[in-house]
Amino acid sequence: MKKGYFGDFGGQFVAELLIPPLRELEHALETIVPSPEFQAEFSALLRDYVGRKSPLTHCPTLSKELGFNLWLKREDLNHTGSHKINNTLGQALLTKYMGKPAMLTETGAGMNGVATATAARALDLDCIVFMGATDVARQSHNVRRMQLLGAEIVPVQNGTKTLKDAINEALRYWIAEQRTHHYCFGTAAGPHPFPTLVREFQSVVGREAREQILEKTGELPYAVVACVGGGSNAIGAFHAFVPDESVRLVGVEAAGTGEPGCYNSAPLNLGSRGVLHGQMTMLLQDEDGQILPSHSVAAGLDYPGVGPEHAHLHDSGRAHYGTVNDAQALKAFMTLTRSEGIMPALESSHAVAWVLENRDRIPKGANVIVNLSGRGDKDMDIIEEHLGAQPVHGRKG
Ligand SMILES: Cc1ncc(COP(=O)(O)O)c(C=O)c1O
Repeated sequence: MKKGYFGDFGGQFVAELLIPPLRELEHALETIVPSPEFQAEFSALLRDYVGRKSPLTHCPTLSKELGFNLWLKREDLNHTGSHKINNTLGQALLTKYMGKPAMLTETGAGMNGVATATAARALDLDCIVFMGATDVARQSHNVRRMQLLGAEIVPVQNGTKTLKDAINEALRYWIAEQRTHHYCFGTAAGPHPFPTLVREFQSVVGREAREQILEKTGELPYAVVACVGGGSNAIGAFHAFVPDESVRLVGVEAAGTGEPGCYNSAPLNLGSRGVLHGQMTMLLQDEDGQILPSHSVAAGLDYPGVGPEHAHLHDSGRAHYGTVNDAQALKAFMTLTRSEGIMPALESSHAVAWVLENRDRIPKGANVIVNLSGRGDKDMDIIEEHLGAQPVHGRKG
């Protein structure tokens, strides 16, 4: 396989001025990250700061109803409430090892921004966060959290003023500040080596889940299911299972409102090949290659592209990618909340919904792991807006 590529996807489609920091980062990935010293420090941070291992929780009520065993990998229990902290702490530590005093990042919903600002504080680094002006307005709670953590927020006024534009602006800023700043890319996408680097830091999720399910059931699972935005929680959950041919890997993209022709965030199912943010991947684009707006009720899935390793897993058939629409995800949110007392993030609700919607295709007695990438507290306003009419006293959704 060509270096920096996953099959036909990946690469480094960037301005020449970004090649030096990407080379430096590639070197750091090959020399610093595998070193025993770095690995020991990273493991200690994951254990003592993040709270790993995250549990693998059996869902007794839903499992009984479904006829197969539903297990949740609890990334929602991590410090800051999602899987994003695994990656940002890894990259913050790498920033230190590379001798840089500052990190920059981009954020859409704000979860990656909060996780990066947190990691920067933990390791005493400066932090600057690029965020579309539209997202700054609609995610004010997370903006305040980042500010309290001492991060500088730069509202981006270009384009649709959302995540795609924030990434463009962050890449531009990195060109100017590459000597002092590391770009802490928030998902397993972007130019090489980011997709590999982020997967490296997230693969702890699948390694733990594989050990835990073997310990609890004595066998490999029937399937591992995870939602896909840029693809970091899914690639983290999948990676340890890729060689296990019997394990089905299922990524879940967001179908938006689900109406024909509606905006969605499902580039693997509804997009085509193209270049965005330095990578060849699957994209939502029109016939002229203009990027189409994306939409999902889950802000973290709202990205018109996807990491190149997922494009390859899709192309090669090793992983299957389904879609779930906003209403199905909201319904799954209520089902998990009322059945098990666990409130999933709306992103993770897409993965739960895929299992509920496809229950008839899953054999009785099977073990299915859903990666619960985050907790739903951050989504309370959206939940109330959509499900305001739900009874508040009922036992079940
Ligand atoms: C809780 C949660 N899950 C999933 C995602 C999607 O990102 P990724 O595909 O990189 O895991 C996000 C992004 O913000 C998120 O906050």
